[in-house]
Amino acid sequence: MSREGDVIARFYDRHPYPPPVDSLDEDAAAWRDGLRRRVEHARMWPSVPYRDDRAILIAGCGTSQAARYALRYPNARVVGIDVSPTSIRATRRLGERYGLTNLELHRMPIEEAGTLGPSFDHIVCTGVLHHLANPEVGLRTLRDALAPTGAIHLMVYASYGRFGVYLLQDYCRRLGVKPNPDDIGDLVATLRELPQGHPLSHLLRNTPDFAHDDALADALLNPRDRSYTVPEVLRLIEGADLRFGRWVRQAPYRPQCGAITEVPTVGASQRCPNPNSSPPSNSSGAP
Ligand SMILES: C[S@@+](CC[C@H](N)C(=O)[O-])C[C@H]1O[C@@H](n2cnc3c(N)ncnc32)[C@H](O)[C@@H]1O
Repeated sequence: MSREGDVIARFYDRHPYPPPVDSLDEDAAAWRDGLRRRVEHARMWPSVPYRDDRAILIAGCGTSQAARYALRYPNARVVGIDVSPTSIRATRRLGERYGLTNLELHRMPIEEAGTLGPSFDHIVCTGVLHHLANPEVGLRTLRDALAPTGAIHLMVYASYGRFGVYLLQDYCRRLGVKPNPDDIGDLVATLRELPQGHPLSHLLRNTPDFAHDDALADALLNPRDRSYTVPEVLRLIEGADLRFGRWVRQAPYRPQCGAITEVPTVGASQRCPNPNSSPPSNSSGAP
């Protein structure tokens, strides 16, 4: 692993994301729900007959995502990779607790995913590529691990949606705020004082993530993250010789929907009634 990779691995070892959980009971039923499995299949392969025995790679699996996918697809081989040993250990504990014999875990950077072979039908990579020193190389490596008819579910940070996050990241850098308990405590106190109209206040009010210190560190004190506009995402995909399929959550891309309408610098004459308009979390989202 490169020294660059080590910076991120060390960060996520101290601040694993999502915060580790001992149990998936709260949403296990939703993850096991066969209808949701079919909906996901139809989204990824709209013109292909249903199958649930695909090989799935969870690239940058964090603390629970690979275990959730192994619950959802008991007939599939699910492989989780991550650079953070803490995250791999947390996932392994869940695997043992739920008897997930279809789950395989490796401490491995995405940049080395090619060694797993071009065998994956379904690759999930959410909240990860934007932390890589070179996201283009990361995505090309994932493409090489993808079977010819495979599909990738990708999530990268959105430049406009995270505008308030970047203001606060800049504030933290200028003041030298560090990801230790004292500094994070002071930061939480500062965030409580942000005025209602601050571009971050929508996320602070509506994203459960911000209630947890490690998640706050992930958003505001991460040693490396970048974000993408829609044209930049499309260029990233094309640059890896992949073809754009669809947005998983469509509503936030309509001008009257999504977190951006809460930012006072943008006039929003209509609010979108669609529940999809809540801000996407960093994680793989609702099951
Ligand atoms: C924000 S978390 C997202 C976790 C998970 N994908 C989810 O959505 O719940 C980012 C994860 O990517 C991992 N990561 C960062 N750079 C990586 C790399 N080059 N290779 C593999 N994992 C990486 C981190 O250790 C961390 O667990």
